[in-house]
Amino acid sequence: MLRIYDDYEELSRAAADLFIERAHDTLENASRFCVALSGGETPLRTYQLLAEHPLGDRVDWARTHIFFSDERLVPGDDPRNNAFNIRMVMLDHIPIPSENVHPVPTGMPAMIAADRYEGMLEDFFMGFAARFDLIFLGLGTEGHTASLFPNTPALEEERHWTADVLLPQEPFHRVTFTPPLINQAAAVAFLVSGKRKSWILQSVLEGETDYRSLPAQIIRPIDGDLYWLVDREAAGQLTQVED
Ligand code: 6PG
Repeated sequence: MLRIYDDYEELSRAAADLFIERAHDTLENASRFCVALSGGETPLRTYQLLAEHPLGDRVDWARTHIFFSDERLVPGDDPRNNAFNIRMVMLDHIPIPSENVHPVPTGMPAMIAADRYEGMLEDFFMGFAARFDLIFLGLGTEGHTASLFPNTPALEEERHWTADVLLPQEPFHRVTFTPPLINQAAAVAFLVSGKRKSWILQSVLEGETDYRSLPAQIIRPIDGDLYWLVDREAAGQLTQVED
């Protein structure tokens, strides 16, 4: 479902409210709320709001588990590391037990890190299908999401839950959630903000289906909710929206 907000702040508040709503609903019937956070700039205000009063007070952090939908294999204190940035704005400011935060292991070859992370997911979900209660995702200006980039092998992965990614333009590897893992979630929420994303958002939502060129199109939860939380600037090129 597409929801359009006046500006970035309203979008961020709505995303924080969605997190709280999904956590509350999940914890009515389950013992834990399992969420995967996206890297990038867009979700940072959402994370900040979740670390502040009053919104953060409404989350049962003791029963919340946090994973990361992708990671750059740089040192854990490197500002390019997604978990580092999320720790700065959120994790270091909430009463979440350290054992409830599950970063992608770094400091090892990417293939091993990806396998290790998949093993952590298998252990966490106790051998059952890894079904996140909520996954936040961003959208790159060329249509990537998590670290699923156009015309890369990770897009074609149908069995494993994680993959090693190396982009020619980057000096580091990445580890990413794969489409099978993301698409078995109970809820996936894209957060998209700003005029510079308006053209790619229009292509992804209203253009031809071509997931190899537009990887975000491969995200279609099998038995879950798909949210597009966007601000008015990002929605500027959409033609099929009611006012
Ligand atoms: C990453 C992110 C990536 C991000 C998009 C959008 O590690 O780079 O996971 O998928 O969500 O690149 O990034 P912005 O929100 O900064 O535009």
